[in-house]
Amino acid sequence: MNIFALTGAGVSAESGLGTFRDKDGLWTRFDPMKLATPEAFVHNPDEVHAFYNLRRQNLLSAEPNAAHWALARLETGLAERGGSLFLCTQNIDDLHERAGSRQVIHMHGELLKARCTACGGIMPWREDLGTEVLCPSCRRSGGMRPHVVWFGEMPLEMDAIYDALLGADLFVSIGTSGSVYPAAGFVSEARGHGIRTCEINLEPSDNARQFDEGRYGPAGEAVPAWVEQVLTS
Ligand code: OAD
Repeated sequence: MNIFALTGAGVSAESGLGTFRDKDGLWTRFDPMKLATPEAFVHNPDEVHAFYNLRRQNLLSAEPNAAHWALARLETGLAERGGSLFLCTQNIDDLHERAGSRQVIHMHGELLKARCTACGGIMPWREDLGTEVLCPSCRRSGGMRPHVVWFGEMPLEMDAIYDALLGADLFVSIGTSGSVYPAAGFVSEARGHGIRTCEINLEPSDNARQFDEGRYGPAGEAVPAWVEQVLTS
């Protein structure tokens, strides 16, 4: 079986990383237009850097949870059975990788990478960023930004993502509210191609009615239970 899994902030919630649209979510407390757009970076880079510096520091002290571990097990288990897992995450954290997932597509970028807007270089980055930081490649300052996708920018790797989605036997959406496109459209795309669909989330998302199956509960419990079922069926 070939499975396409899409993960969102809910998969990392039990690792202590906030979600966006829940009661205490990041976008409930902060205005994304002032922190997560190219325009915000031009007009107020210090505020944007401070927001991502804090998120990066939080990430460095977070640990993967049972949902991340289970998805890493699923990748190995499906490969042993001649199948595959395509793991596409909207998350910018590295918790899937730290749990052992070998192939992860970060469609919204990666917080532990920086990109230089002057020379285009992309590099691993664990320190705070600021306007004074020099690009290690071109030695210019002012252009270093987190390698993340902001509102109004194109998500990454979309060709590979659609190829994998349309080649899957099952599309599973885990811990995402399904409110940000293009990821929010994957379920209807999959359905349109006759691919079975399943949602795993704390509670039914706005798109819940589009899924063939819904499994509800904290990801740290619901994902391992589902993986166990997939690998033993
Ligand atoms: P959201 O905050 O929109 O949705 C998180 C989902 O996870 C909600 O449906 C919650 O009910 C669910 N959830 C919360 N805790 C959970 C738990 N312990 N177990 C399982 N589910 C849980 O986050 P995303 O859908 O990931 O993009 O948001 C998508 C994109 O919007 C993000 O990648 C980000 C944001 O703006 C950018 O910044 C470009």
